Amino acid sequence: MRVLSGIQPSGGLHIGNYFAMMRRMIDFQNTDELFCFIVNFHAMTTVHDPNKLREGTLSAAMDFIAVGLDPARSYFWVQSDVPEVTELTWILSCLTPMGLLERCVSYKDKIASGISPNHGIFAYPVLMASDILAYQAQIIPVGQDQKQHLEVTRDIAIKFNNVYGDTFVVPEAAIDDELAVIPGTDGQKMSKSYGNTIEIFSTEKELREKIFSIKTDSATVQDKKDPEKSTLYDIYKLFVSSGDAEIMAERFRAGGLGYAQVKKELFDVIWEYFRPYRQQREELEKDPDGVRDILRMGAEKARHVATETMELVRERIGIRY
Ligand code: ADP
Ligand code: TRP
Repeated sequence: MRVLSGIQPSGGLHIGNYFAMMRRMIDFQNTDELFCFIVNFHAMTTVHDPNKLREGTLSAAMDFIAVGLDPARSYFWVQSDVPEVTELTWILSCLTPMGLLERCVSYKDKIASGISPNHGIFAYPVLMASDILAYQAQIIPVGQDQKQHLEVTRDIAIKFNNVYGDTFVVPEAAIDDELAVIPGTDGQKMSKSYGNTIEIFSTEKELREKIFSIKTDSATVQDKKDPEKSTLYDIYKLFVSSGDAEIMAERFRAGGLGYAQVKKELFDVIWEYFRPYRQQREELEKDPDGVRDILRMGAEKARHVATETMELVRERIGIRY
């Protein structure tokens, strides 16, 4: 199967990204054809500082390689290095009903959160549809927040196929129910845009501060606690075996376990979990040009696939005369 997903370089990659998308993508590379990319054009909907975009792009690429993405066994590139995708975005825009985009919850949420809407934020799902359809991808591993965008992609693909004849593979979202929405330090969905992330790669001090800032209720040490209502427990169980998660759940229920103690143990498991990846990340940081070369080679391979799709699309829509 052809598996594809992208990630925005709008801030440090975090454990929500890791469990819902990155780790699952890396698993696919053993069994399937993996397309993985850094979506810098999408990040432009909110990031207007060129240095931040540049650095964020390279940094996201290093994060991904450090946690195990193997560019030799996958297609790994930066979105804007395949310009055919923006051409396809226009073509698909002309088939996308306004109502489909107006119904998108992530657009409505962004506006509700006070972001002044630009056309890019509104048209975001069409660019995402192009990302997926240009590569004829079948399986799209994402978190719950992207489910609706995948539905928009399917609708656009079906419409195109109906109007112009079978052209695009109609993709499927792959959402893992257990990992669909990973909470941030404030208990809401963890997101780069909400400032509530726990980053995969931060200093020991930053990580400790983040863990200690996780919101808890006012229960005392002696109180019996419900693990299912605790953000600390939700995050802890991502990092340990189901047996160890159950032991922690029992300690919550028994009482006598304070939140400060849980935070200390949570810090330890996260710090240990990412230890080998941190070493790998430090090596990559020493050679940014090496990482740029990897991305360029990845873009060349990816472009080859997108070009083939575009040849067919241009033929189908009557743009050739
Ligand atoms: P962010 O929301 O932090 O900007 P992205 O939009 O780049 O993250 O998301 C990259 C991938 O990670 C997407 O598949 C998205 O669904 C997933 N993802 C991001 N945050 C979470 C979360 N808190 N829980 C589950 N999945 C998430
Ligand atoms: N919109 C996705 C997000 O914010 C990122 C993305 C862009 C993507 N293009 C994609 C995900 C194509 C999957 C497939 O998380």
